[in-house]
Amino acid sequence: MYKIAIISGDGIGKEVMSACEYLLDKLDLNFSFKYGEAGYECFKNNGITLPEETIKIANKSDAVLFGASTSTPGQPSPIINLRKALNVYANIRPIKSYKGVKCIRDDIDFVIVRENTEGLYSQKEYEENNKLIAERIITHTASERISKAAFHLCLKRGQSKVTCVHKSNVLKKTDGIFKESFYKIAKNYPQITTEDYYVDAMAMYLLTQPQNFEVIVSSNLFGDILSDESAGLVGGLGLAPSGNIGDHNGLFEPVHGSAPDIAGKNIANPCSMILSAAMMLDYLGEWEISNNIKKAVEKVIAECNIRTPDLGGTSTTMEVTKAITKELI
Ligand code: NAI
Ligand code: MG
Repeated sequence: MYKIAIISGDGIGKEVMSACEYLLDKLDLNFSFKYGEAGYECFKNNGITLPEETIKIANKSDAVLFGASTSTPGQPSPIINLRKALNVYANIRPIKSYKGVKCIRDDIDFVIVRENTEGLYSQKEYEENNKLIAERIITHTASERISKAAFHLCLKRGQSKVTCVHKSNVLKKTDGIFKESFYKIAKNYPQITTEDYYVDAMAMYLLTQPQNFEVIVSSNLFGDILSDESAGLVGGLGLAPSGNIGDHNGLFEPVHGSAPDIAGKNIANPCSMILSAAMMLDYLGEWEISNNIKKAVEKVIAECNIRTPDLGGTSTTMEVTKAITKELI
């Protein structure tokens, strides 16, 4: 029996989560779902974007599924705070080309490993002498930890290169440490090739030679921006799952947000949420079922006739979900 915390959030977060639950319910596995609130709707109901109770539910579970949440003016981000509360420091965002989807190339298969606990997402902003200051926090500990996670993942994926992305020519101290930590950890993995790029050049290389990347490690903001760019290379945010992994917790969520432009229309692509659930099952050791879900998503997408509007189709969220589920049972 797996204890799973379900935090749907709001907007399409709720829609893709109910799609995901529909699929999970049909699997030959035992789940006990516990529900937690977070996000803008939660703020309107309870005056807080991430209640203590939700953190408790998440902490007591074997894994957490998160949908998406709309940002609340003047309030901290619930997902950033939840990642920090669970200390899930490595945000793993796989990017691959899918057969049947218009991609920039058909041989893209890399993963972004984004540091989740510090960087410019410290949410520490203040005013001092008419200056507005945002703290960009980088520590040796977190930088070494995230590099280690990247090298480890490279071995797990059977790949052979890790690319570090930073801006140490300008942010000499903070990103100096980030880069230095990367090369320090690299010494323990002599079989893995290493390279590093400035983030601006990297933004271009992702467009001109995405097939050359295998594992990319970066700090919080850069990793966030590069992962949306990367999703755009392979068909958009509807196909971009993610996992947030720590030493004791795992939190799985689509890369996308609450998409207010399409919320409530039952046309959100459920694949990124469903693929995030597949990542969760992999984390829980259910490798076969995880692989089967990935294959089912690939098959439905490749067949082209059942897909949501972001991929050029006319199907609804639930039609796509049912087609994927049908492949599994
Ligand atoms: P977004 O990711 O919600 O949407 C960007 C674009 O991608 C929109 O055109 C949207 O329709 C499309 N899109 C996203 N997911 C899709 C899906 N599953 N199927 C089809 N199309 C999809 O980012 P945006 O618009 O910048 O932010 C909207 C809200 O979400 C904001 O309040 C933002 O703060 C929040 N947000 C929350 C995140 C989270 O909860 N983890 C992450 C990113 C943004
Ligand atoms: Mg983002």
